[in-house]
Amino acid sequence: MALTKIGIIGGSGLYEIDGLQNPRRVDVHSPWGAPSDAILTGQLAGVEMAFLPRHGRGHVYSPGSVPYRANIDALKRLGVTDVISVSACGSFREHMTPGDFVIVDQFVDRTFARDTSFFGPGCVGHVSVAHPTCARLSEACETAARGAGVTVHRGGTYLAMEGPQFSTMAESRLYRDVWGCDVIGMTNMPEAKLAREAELCYASVAMITDFDSWHPDHGAVDITDIIATLAGNADKARALVERLPDLLGTDRASCPHGCDRALEHAILTAPE
Ligand code: ADE
Repeated sequence: MALTKIGIIGGSGLYEIDGLQNPRRVDVHSPWGAPSDAILTGQLAGVEMAFLPRHGRGHVYSPGSVPYRANIDALKRLGVTDVISVSACGSFREHMTPGDFVIVDQFVDRTFARDTSFFGPGCVGHVSVAHPTCARLSEACETAARGAGVTVHRGGTYLAMEGPQFSTMAESRLYRDVWGCDVIGMTNMPEAKLAREAELCYASVAMITDFDSWHPDHGAVDITDIIATLAGNADKARALVERLPDLLGTDRASCPHGCDRALEHAILTAPE
């Protein structure tokens, strides 16, 4: 039985978490470069925690320049077992409104200018991302969100766009009406794919800030409106995080969905 270590990747608006015992900022060195920031470690209700602000404190990394490989590698090196991605997103659904959280379970990846894999020349591997999030960890996030009084939607397809500009109206309608996506954001890919390659359980908590540009009553996405919603969303995210240790516990059996064994049959290159 391994020990649980919960890694939180905080998105726009969530640059700190509170209440950690023995808080320490750790600089982790990774062959994939420097992570977005030092990682805040400590314990919450007896469970080991690690917090990494995706955009860095001071919000210095744009979605396209976040060092995704270094971030996932650094969490893995610290012994993190469960990664919870917290991020801002736009909504394609009338009933998913700003302030609501969506526990994402699928992605359409439209990013195109990022390093998407730890594999490459010299070591070739192909993991499955048919089910890109961990159902066990997603369940805990849903329960924690409900406990924190958040309106939460379990399941949803997240369109990951390159950015940093928001979508055109035609793109927004295509993603919503034709592709059936529920939310849109700029950061969950390649993060989710890399977490799978690193054999980490990954859940995505997408915090809605706006209706993107498809909605006839809401007009274009406006960053000032987004910022107005971010602070309230971040408070709710902190309340969600506080509930996770009790739900996940200190002892961790192997993942019932196999996230922690994703490489078992994935590597094609023969060992030397
Ligand atoms: N993040 C927050 N709102 C967004 C939107 N509408 N599109 C892409 N990323 C977002």
